[in-house]
Amino acid sequence: MATEPPFASYPSRVLLVLFAVALIMLRIDALAPPAFSIEEASAHDLQLAFRQNKLTSRQLTEFYLDRIGRLNPLLRGVIEVNPDARHQADRADRERKAKPHGLLSALHGIPILLKDNIATKDKMNTTAGSFALLGSVVPRDAGVVARLRRAGAVLLGKASLSEWAYYRSSRGPSGWCARSGQGKNPYNLSADPCGSSSGSAISVAANMGAVSLGTETDGSILCPSSFNSVVGIKPTLGLTSRGGVVPITPRQDTVGPMCRTVADAVHVLDVIVGFDPYDAKATREASKYIPRGGYKRFLKADGLKGKRLGIVRNPFFDNYSGTPVLKAFDSHFNTLRKQGAVLVDHLELANVNEIYSDASGEGVAMSAEFKLALNKYLRDLVVSPVRSLADVIAFNNKHKHAEKIDEYGQDLFLAAQATSGINETVKSARRNMDRLTRDGFEKLMRQNKLDALVTPGSAVSTVLAIGGFPGISVPAGYDKDGVPFGICFGGLRGSEPTLIEIAYGFEQATKIRRPPSLMQCDRHLDVGPSSCV
Ligand SMILES: *[C@@H]1O[C@H](CO)[C@@H](O)[C@H](O)[C@H]1NC(C)=O
Ligand SMILES: *[C@@H]1O[C@H](CO)[C@@H](O)[C@H](O)[C@H]1NC(C)=O
Ligand SMILES: *[C@@H]1O[C@H](CO)[C@@H](O)[C@H](O)[C@H]1NC(C)=O
Ligand SMILES: *[C@@H]1O[C@H](CO)[C@@H](O)[C@H](O)[C@H]1NC(C)=O
Repeated sequence: MATEPPFASYPSRVLLVLFAVALIMLRIDALAPPAFSIEEASAHDLQLAFRQNKLTSRQLTEFYLDRIGRLNPLLRGVIEVNPDARHQADRADRERKAKPHGLLSALHGIPILLKDNIATKDKMNTTAGSFALLGSVVPRDAGVVARLRRAGAVLLGKASLSEWAYYRSSRGPSGWCARSGQGKNPYNLSADPCGSSSGSAISVAANMGAVSLGTETDGSILCPSSFNSVVGIKPTLGLTSRGGVVPITPRQDTVGPMCRTVADAVHVLDVIVGFDPYDAKATREASKYIPRGGYKRFLKADGLKGKRLGIVRNPFFDNYSGTPVLKAFDSHFNTLRKQGAVLVDHLELANVNEIYSDASGEGVAMSAEFKLALNKYLRDLVVSPVRSLADVIAFNNKHKHAEKIDEYGQDLFLAAQATSGINETVKSARRNMDRLTRDGFEKLMRQNKLDALVTPGSAVSTVLAIGGFPGISVPAGYDKDGVPFGICFGGLRGSEPTLIEIAYGFEQATKIRRPPSLMQCDRHLDVGPSSCV
């Protein structure tokens, strides 16, 4: 007798039964009321769930702590969690019962991760990822953290980063810091997560926190946002305080939200903007840009209508010629037009080659400014193993192995240490950047009456950085390796309201973000620990 092929007779009956069971389950799934899913929930969804008693801030915090416990050993987006997070969540739950909801901020009870260069005066360390600052005691919360606490946010933990916000070494990989190791891109573990706010992007992308803060000096919010399919807002210089942030240069440093949606990022922005006596000059100057009633009213579905968007092909798009990125953007341009935007194509940005060369002066100025700014930050600490850039360099040489000094070096530190203040060369570098900005971006925007410049990825970051201009990165697609890329809308100082309308309009018309497939499990709170990874 011939043996039957394995899928006939008995096995086929099993398959039939399985098929029927699957059908019944699907049907039950369709009939049951949708369970509340924390993963991918927006701050708005979470507030609604709080008010409807479907969720407490404590449960939400436990959910993220559990997820960090399971996913972070692989992804390394979080350096440490806050031992007081549960306590803060309980307090938020009590406050919610006592107060009518109209009086609570959109971030009340919402767990947020902070890049590890943003100071918190609590049980957490603030180290910029380096062992050199472990055990240091900061004088006070960073200005943005004080605002988050007042808003009732739960400080969930510190996000990893490219060490020292990528200003120790030009050789180190992005997403690496000594305290946390190599952060991973959750969309493709062998891909670059980009930096320096790598952990902030990785963590919200993989649902290890509701929202996060990053910092940018030149690309550090926009690039990881692009590479991890999240929304990043790099605000106008001074709109958000740099007080209590481990600095690179006050001339360019900014703090901004990194979140899964434009709306979430805008809710975070609304909480963190404003004057801070510890960053008085810049925050006072930029306060004039803050609209009455905040930014959330610019979340308009028809936000693209009538907006003039500029396109500079060389170098921003030419750099992507022959890649799927360029093809995706052709389709995005059509979408933008369909949504009512006017595209002004084939523009030129004056001196763009100089802006992207050493001749711009950015590197020269930054090096001298970093030494002064870091030394001041270190001097102001209450307790610290290191009190100057020279101390940090010596620390690294003493802890070569832990800090991987032989592998990655500390060339940017050494160059900065060799500078001697703001001399004529630095002043001239600053004047040059002002000229490049005036003749370049400002002229381009004004002459063409543009609302924003549209660019792929984060390549435009230097243009925005040297002029103190804002930009928003929104998910725009995935390349052949599954690695995300973003679209960036950049504008003149204080143009956040317009950029938010544009970014939200684009996001709502495209909805490109999807969670990394590695994470597609544990959709609901009632599902216990499982083997995601
Ligand atoms: C901060 O660092 C110290 C080591 O100096 C460590 O004992 C402590 O657990 C860290 N704090 C957190 C919240 O991880
Ligand atoms: C200013 O300092 C830089 C190092 O930051 C140095 O290269 C340059 O030669 C100095 N310029 C003058 C005019 O002393
Ligand atoms: C374009 O690509 C070149 C070569 O890889 C690179 O040097 C340059 O910085 C890129 N320009 C921008 C704006 O990304
Ligand atoms: C991840 O990227 C690598 C290239 O860096 C590629 O070979 C691999 O196929 C990608 N993995 C996935 C799942 O797309």
